[in-house]
Amino acid sequence: MTADASSPSGIQAATRSSPIASRTRSADAAQQIARSRALLPNGVSGRSALSPDQTFMAARGAGARIYDSDGANLVDYHAGAGALILGHCAPSVVAAVQAQVALGSVFFGSTAPATLSLAERLVAASPCAEKVAFATAGSEATAYALRIARAATGRKLFLKFDGAYHGNQDLTQAKAASNDGLGMPETGGVPSETARLALVAPYNDIDAVRTLAHRHAQELATIIVEPVQKHIFPRPGFLEGLRQIARDIGALLIFDEVVTGFRLAYGGAQSYFGVTPDLACYGKIIGGGYPLGAVAGPSALIDLVSGTRRNEPGYVLFNGTHHGMPVAAAAGLATLEQVGKTGFHDALNAWTANLRRELQKIADRHATAVRIDGDASMWAVTTLPHPPTCNADLAREDNALLGAIDRGLVAGGCYVLPGNRRLATSAHGDSELENTLCAFDSACRGLR
Ligand SMILES: Cc1ncc(COP(=O)(O)O)c(C=O)c1O
Repeated sequence: MTADASSPSGIQAATRSSPIASRTRSADAAQQIARSRALLPNGVSGRSALSPDQTFMAARGAGARIYDSDGANLVDYHAGAGALILGHCAPSVVAAVQAQVALGSVFFGSTAPATLSLAERLVAASPCAEKVAFATAGSEATAYALRIARAATGRKLFLKFDGAYHGNQDLTQAKAASNDGLGMPETGGVPSETARLALVAPYNDIDAVRTLAHRHAQELATIIVEPVQKHIFPRPGFLEGLRQIARDIGALLIFDEVVTGFRLAYGGAQSYFGVTPDLACYGKIIGGGYPLGAVAGPSALIDLVSGTRRNEPGYVLFNGTHHGMPVAAAAGLATLEQVGKTGFHDALNAWTANLRRELQKIADRHATAVRIDGDASMWAVTTLPHPPTCNADLAREDNALLGAIDRGLVAGGCYVLPGNRRLATSAHGDSELENTLCAFDSACRGLR
């Protein structure tokens, strides 16, 4: 690509986002925003949102873009919090969902063919898996995996990493406390007794994990880890070290693959890093944009949830109206069919690597003091001089600078939420690249 002053590549994009800073909203769109602010906390249905003056009411999504009711669009780097690796409304996913909707959506106590086929795909893809138990979301999957680990070991503590997010359940809302390593509540509504069931260690610090794990060896049921925590990649040997420590003290190792599953590679973080946990938790991509979660592992562990064992010691309750929901399973199956094709990840990762390179060139040209980090289909802008290794590094970011860049990116037509890693999908192409580079170019220029 050759650069010029107004367009980083000099190519005119086929589809351009409408810079939302410079357009006037219709009365309808403005009214929708006002209604959402009146009815929903922070005006949205999740915890992340654009700043109030950049609010975007997504009326529909198509490919790599989301559109508001005025037809303005943004290049989506949130990708449904990671659920949409094919982008919005991939035709094969829409067709699979429509077909399943016509066949039925809940068969409690039975299994739909779509759910069964998805189970087969999951077990074939997940190195640790012989069996799989379906839930409704990633949060449930991690909660159930922790329950299975505690039942299987007869121990009550678990070890998590500072800053890790494993979903919305009480048990994992623990952050690092003082030097005893026991957690303290990370949110209101969680009792300190609950948070103290967690040992909290710094990510990537294998010595700290070893010390803490051995100090509580008799009580520690499991270590749970996001193999890539937010956009922090594991140091060489870190995941292998966790595997060994868990084995040494008779605890289980759980990989929370809710984001990394099928994104880093078809076999997820397990195959990307070559480390096999005892249990793996899935969500997001396996539901193809619809609510689904799963815990995969050896039969001896997964069978603990079998209803036939409900009167036996060690039985683990694992039950929900929408567990393994066939519509989500059909969407997930259609998604994994695409994701499993030869070259899928090579193409997606190459597109993202090129984006990272081009963004870095722009930052350098403007002497903007940021680096573009990431790997596979993830990217992030960082003000740190080196890739972050733990949550404490993220706390040292220059959030004012990152916030200004994000505002510029949104104004230029990119959907990037504050503090979140950015994710690409297979629907991101030339026009999205062009759009993003233009937006980043003007964001950097605006900092001068
Ligand atoms: C690593 C990780 N685990 C678990 C979850 C929870 O998944 P869900 O939002 O589907 O409940 C998330 C959600 O973002 C996540 O990022």
